Amino acid sequence: MSTRYQEVTANLQQDPRVWLVTGCAGFIGSNLLEALLRLGQRVVGLDDFSTGHQYNLDEVEKTVGPALWSSFTFIEGDIRDMDVCRKALHGVDHVLHQAALGSVPRSLKDPLTTNSVNVDGFLNVLVAAKEAEAKSFVYAASSSTYGDHEALPKVEDRIGRPLSPYAVTKFVNELYADVFARAYGFGSIGLRYFNVFGKRQDPNGAYAAVIPKWIAAMIRGEDVVVNGDGETSRDFCFIDNVVQANILAALAQPEGVNQVYNVAYNARTSLNELFEHLAKALAGNGIVYDKQPIHGDFRPGDVRHSQADITKARELLGYEPMHNIIQGLEVSMPWYTQFLR
Ligand SMILES: NC(=O)c1ccc[n+]([C@@H]2O[C@H](COP(=O)([O-])OP(=O)(O)OC[C@H]3O[C@@H](n4cnc5c(N)ncnc54)[C@H](O)[C@@H]3O)[C@@H](O)[C@H]2O)c1
Repeated sequence: MSTRYQEVTANLQQDPRVWLVTGCAGFIGSNLLEALLRLGQRVVGLDDFSTGHQYNLDEVEKTVGPALWSSFTFIEGDIRDMDVCRKALHGVDHVLHQAALGSVPRSLKDPLTTNSVNVDGFLNVLVAAKEAEAKSFVYAASSSTYGDHEALPKVEDRIGRPLSPYAVTKFVNELYADVFARAYGFGSIGLRYFNVFGKRQDPNGAYAAVIPKWIAAMIRGEDVVVNGDGETSRDFCFIDNVVQANILAALAQPEGVNQVYNVAYNARTSLNELFEHLAKALAGNGIVYDKQPIHGDFRPGDVRHSQADITKARELLGYEPMHNIIQGLEVSMPWYTQFLR
């Protein structure tokens, strides 16, 4: 484990803080909530259940137990409502802003709603955090900001043109964060997540991410559809690495603030390889999937290859990802097989 992470989490346990996790009923937010409660922190959560679920919160409650759960306050509301954001920020030390409408295809279908949540909502939370003088503001940025820049691995300061409305919104977040640092002296950190996976990631719906969607199909014996030839590749990042990056960023040293960081593992896995990894991990959990995947069309707005350089997060935050894709699947597969059966 990262030495810096050990140090930071040990200090937090001695000196608990108040955290706001927006999007706490979603995949990443609920994992952050669980980790913070386990570290003895007080957490305020904000979510409107637009893509998140009450059952994610119920699962965290069950997992951490009643004593730790009593340190959690939930606010049901929309980040597009400034009053809700101000209320959520009251007395908060650290903000982990996750609430947004994810998915490239969703944004291509409905750019207006994606923009209002991801840009207007983001700005509300940022303004409310500045007004409340939060000690730190960490937000979910995205690898989609690399757009059509083809060089690999991706380095933070070399980006291309966005390929989707979603990518525009996530880049606008970075621009606002940067302006708030320069114009108001309000510092923040953007974490450009690369294809995160793990427990509580939603397998259902038109906009599900590839890993939970394929696992669900494989468990149910349904066809797996690969978009394109399967040689499209991604830097799949296990959720525990993302939790680590968020906590490290929230407690970053001054030289690490007002930056954006890649959060990934720094490996590249093609969709064809992913299929093999999933079949193996499922077999390890007693589920044999013997069909071959079906190849469909390439998806518009998708980048062909993605892999992150994580040197910057390593050097400035002390980020040390603990799980590669195979290890992450090993940890999370029992959850999927239990949850999706
Ligand atoms: N999962 C990934 O691979 C990935 C990659 C890059 C960036 N991100 C970003 O990480 C963040 C979390 O993503 P996730 O995968 O956990 O998605 P998710 O859909 O599981 O979680 C998002 C949460 O935000 C909530 N939310 C959405 N709109 C809201 C609003 N207007 N007001 C209040 N709450 C609202 C949803 O109900 C949901 O609980 C997002 O900002 C996303 O863009 C995710």
